[in-house]
Amino acid sequence: MISHEERQKIFQRGKPKTLWEGEPMLGSSYGEEEIAAAVAAMRDSMDVSRGFGGQPIREFETAFAAYIGTKHAVAVNSAGPGLDMAMRFLKLEPGDEVIVPALNFVAAPMAVIGAGGQVVWGEINPRTLELDPNDVEKRITKRTRAIFPVHMNGLAAPMDDFLELAKRYPHEKHGPLAVIGDVARACGGEYKGAKLGKTGLMSVFSFHTMKNMVTLGEGGMVVTDNDDAAAFCRSTRFYGGDLEVWGSSYVMNKVQAAVGLVQLNKLDGFIASRRRIAHRRDELLEGVPELQLPYEPPDCLHTYYLYTCLVPESWAGEKRDKLMKTMDEEFGVRLLVANPPVYTYRKFLRDHTPGQSLPLSESIGKRLFCVPTHPGMSNEDNEYIAAALIECLYGLK
Ligand SMILES: Cc1ncc(COP(=O)(O)O)c(C=O)c1O
Repeated sequence: MISHEERQKIFQRGKPKTLWEGEPMLGSSYGEEEIAAAVAAMRDSMDVSRGFGGQPIREFETAFAAYIGTKHAVAVNSAGPGLDMAMRFLKLEPGDEVIVPALNFVAAPMAVIGAGGQVVWGEINPRTLELDPNDVEKRITKRTRAIFPVHMNGLAAPMDDFLELAKRYPHEKHGPLAVIGDVARACGGEYKGAKLGKTGLMSVFSFHTMKNMVTLGEGGMVVTDNDDAAAFCRSTRFYGGDLEVWGSSYVMNKVQAAVGLVQLNKLDGFIASRRRIAHRRDELLEGVPELQLPYEPPDCLHTYYLYTCLVPESWAGEKRDKLMKTMDEEFGVRLLVANPPVYTYRKFLRDHTPGQSLPLSESIGKRLFCVPTHPGMSNEDNEYIAAALIECLYGLK
């Protein structure tokens, strides 16, 4: 932990020039390479016979599939439509259930509802904040069709445990449950030595402006080893052609793909920087009794998309919120709550899941907060943020 004297020295240097947010608006960084790739793709598109479709979209898909280690990758204009396609592939019937963590972004439960399914909220493991397989097992019924873990805040969900449950509790008509991963926040992360997205029926990535790699603000990718799932996504992505199914337009354009190729080459570097910052911050904050720091299980490589901490139970709610307010007003650092259980802040989702409430997720939702992190953050800014956090925590004791 940084001592009182060290903190004063850090504050003498002044506030960071960047207004750091818990989830910065740009999650990666762009250089001349991205600009050159975008301009080249635009120039190529000025040819009336080519326009904005075609290469390098396929090239980006091939490179991404190789990076993750899957047979297929299908580029889309955002992760949301990718999650929708994954759920639609299951052909859910009314009453079919999909187990989703409650501590989540809205996209995964929305995809379940959009595909005609019933959301069943699952509890999380309070140490990892990932969907808890023991809790999932208790919620499996005859109507369960899929387990839909989200690799929350950059860390892997325990995929092997879900795949084992999927086999052990097959649906009587459809066989083993589908395990579909939302990797929007964890692109480049690893689980048991493989890239996230390698296991499960399908996995969906986001290249939204805040994410680990960014394709001009929006973008996503669905990966799978399953030929039928890949064909379904390719068809649905463009009005359901070839397979004669329902579809819409979820297409990525080639300028995004050209930038995506450059960002993909830099991704491991971004993750290494995020990890260096997170590990240094772990050292700076180690031993602060009011803080539970992020946990990285030994078989996972955390991307630290978000650096998620917990305050003690006695600080839940009001005191956590006070901490966030003081950090913002006195130190100019914005913490973020990502995320409380979605049904607590989205009425639409609460109305869809009447009678379901998860005490553990609700209590963790009142204790968690995310401290700004970014691959381009300087050591000085990292030190300032850690010193400010300690100062605020002491002030609130
Ligand atoms: C966990 C999670 N899933 C899905 C999404 C949706 O991603 P996109 O904005 O690319 O549709 C997000 C985006 O913020 C997310 O955080």
